[in-house]
Amino acid sequence: MKNLHRTIHRWYQSYGRHTLPWRNTDEPYYIYLSEVMLQQTQVKTVLERYYFPFIERFPTLKALGEAELDEVLKAWEGLGYYTRAKNLHKSASLVSELPADIDALIRLPGIGKNTAHAIAAFAFRQPVPIMEANVKRILCRLYRLENPTERELWEYAYSLMDRKNPFDYNQAMMDIGATVCMPKNAQCDLCPLEGICQGKEEPHRYPLKKKRTVPTREEHIVIHSCNGRLSLHQRSGKFLHGLWGFESIEVPPCAAEYLGEVSHTYTHFKLNCKVYLYHESIPEQENYFSLDEIRELAISKVDEKILLLVKGKEETLW
Ligand code: ADE
Repeated sequence: MKNLHRTIHRWYQSYGRHTLPWRNTDEPYYIYLSEVMLQQTQVKTVLERYYFPFIERFPTLKALGEAELDEVLKAWEGLGYYTRAKNLHKSASLVSELPADIDALIRLPGIGKNTAHAIAAFAFRQPVPIMEANVKRILCRLYRLENPTERELWEYAYSLMDRKNPFDYNQAMMDIGATVCMPKNAQCDLCPLEGICQGKEEPHRYPLKKKRTVPTREEHIVIHSCNGRLSLHQRSGKFLHGLWGFESIEVPPCAAEYLGEVSHTYTHFKLNCKVYLYHESIPEQENYFSLDEIRELAISKVDEKILLLVKGKEETLW
């Protein structure tokens, strides 16, 4: 094991992504923020558009906890999976400092075992493994696991890890997964784990790919326009709760202008929206906003697409 850990460490020294900003800080809040952003978003997007502006806007956990949820959602706009932002805000309002204890971390909203381990290993240098998608794929290939349980994966992860250097080891595992042991083109000849890898002859076989088809949901979007202002409401249901958006109804409206269709794919379903415009307002039933005002609201990707469609089709409105 010692030799293997040395090989991984050397590999990380030479090829690791050392410049990622959350790897160059000891501030637990920054590390926590990066882990939450990276849960469902690619490094490039987080790095280029979200991590720094968010920290600038909410420089401390305390500042985040004291902010309005609307402001937090605005800073999160476009990243998707908004429950992450709501949980981050909730956690920040519950504690003034992040605990180092893994169980205490897991008790905070939105922090699961992997995120707690990542914070423990990266911010507090505790000897625990992490288990994000890249690491899972590496373990499946190393031990030829087609469809392992979470429990099996954690057992393998603990048995493999370098307890003396959990920071470099865990970051290295993610980098090996992201740049060498990739889903499609595994570069086994460049891999520091090649010597112990049982799956290197057929890496694509592990883990078994589950075929998934997502259902399609059809919605009809109705927008009222009034003197260049559009109707939007703040969502209160479970889906995209707290974000602003256009009204959706189940049946096509009558006597409205049909503008076209937009679609957006979420993890569990595809949303198809047929968009209709009423050139009249229903006073007191809706909030009306100018384009400048809409820019200040947190809206979802699909509502952004709808807005683009309206702007493209209805130049005469403005
Ligand atoms: N994904 C989750 N945590 C990460 C990290 N620390 N570096 C790069 N990608 C990650």
